[in-house]
Amino acid sequence: MKSSTTESRKTSLLDVILIILYLVSFSIYVYFLITGTDFYSTSLREQPHHPDYRSLRPAGMIGHAFGVIGSAMMIFMLLYSIRKRIRRLQNLGYLSSWLRVHIYFGIIGPLLIILHSSFKVQGLIAVSFWSMIAVALSGILGRYLYKQIPRTIAGQEIDFKELEQMNQNLAQEIYNKFRIEPKQLESIEASIFPPIRPEKGLIFAFLSMIFNDALKPIRSYRLRKHLIKKLNLSFQEVSQMLITIKRKAMLQRRISMWNAIHQLFHYWHVIHKPFAIIMYIIMLIHILVAVYVGYFWIF
Ligand code: HEM
Repeated sequence: MKSSTTESRKTSLLDVILIILYLVSFSIYVYFLITGTDFYSTSLREQPHHPDYRSLRPAGMIGHAFGVIGSAMMIFMLLYSIRKRIRRLQNLGYLSSWLRVHIYFGIIGPLLIILHSSFKVQGLIAVSFWSMIAVALSGILGRYLYKQIPRTIAGQEIDFKELEQMNQNLAQEIYNKFRIEPKQLESIEASIFPPIRPEKGLIFAFLSMIFNDALKPIRSYRLRKHLIKKLNLSFQEVSQMLITIKRKAMLQRRISMWNAIHQLFHYWHVIHKPFAIIMYIIMLIHILVAVYVGYFWIF
């Protein structure tokens, strides 16, 4: 298979930076969540009498900081859309790297906004808040679908013909290395990812894909045991063989689900974007009103 596909991506500096950022951000988040539990669980009416009210309320020193940093992250996330659309920025890092940054901001930003709201949302801003939650949660589904579309490390889609060629090359590689005939390979692949019939509908295809992915470790374990017995090979030899076979099975599934995945991803965009637009418009109104009435935080 092409060494430039996302599956064969090596750990980059960005990965290391993101892992550190996730660890630091989650640790700080959990710290504030635990130390603020008492305040956050107090009713809206009682909150002004709480000792943490001055700092943790949405307009308090810390609560406001959550709002400012969270909103900044939500705005920085849009850099992905800009990088994706503006040709002149094409040389500015891989699109896939920008998406990973988008996802970091898309997870930590909403989490900070939840703390900023002190778990109490009402009025117009509630529409923005719940749209934000919907967009962030649907992002997880989008990420799953995005991963089903084979891409180069740079994040560009690999075209269908090239995929078929890669699939044939892999079958040949498996035959050369392990002497597994195409028919036999087909049935081994089907025991990892049973074929999905797209004519049963998109929702069925989507759920079956998730179901098959969840069962993949168990199926691989059973297959390994079966192959060790049948081919009389060692654990290491079969494990080595399975690495290539699993890559081939995944590629085969992506080829047979090509249309369904593209349609699902299209519908996902259709839902994800309007929620994001509603969220940003109301967020902007909310920020303008806050600044207008004098909430400048530390500035
Ligand atoms: C409130 C938080 C979020 C907002 C406002 C948001 C917003 C957006 C927008 C506007 C797009 C369209 C980009 C474009 O085509 O120009 C997008 C795409 C995407 N987002 Fe998010 N997102 C959020 C959170 C997340 C999260 C948490 C994830 C993953 C866990 C995620 C994954 C994705 C993916 C995979 C795409 C598709 C990229 C593509 O088709 O090129 N998003 N998001």
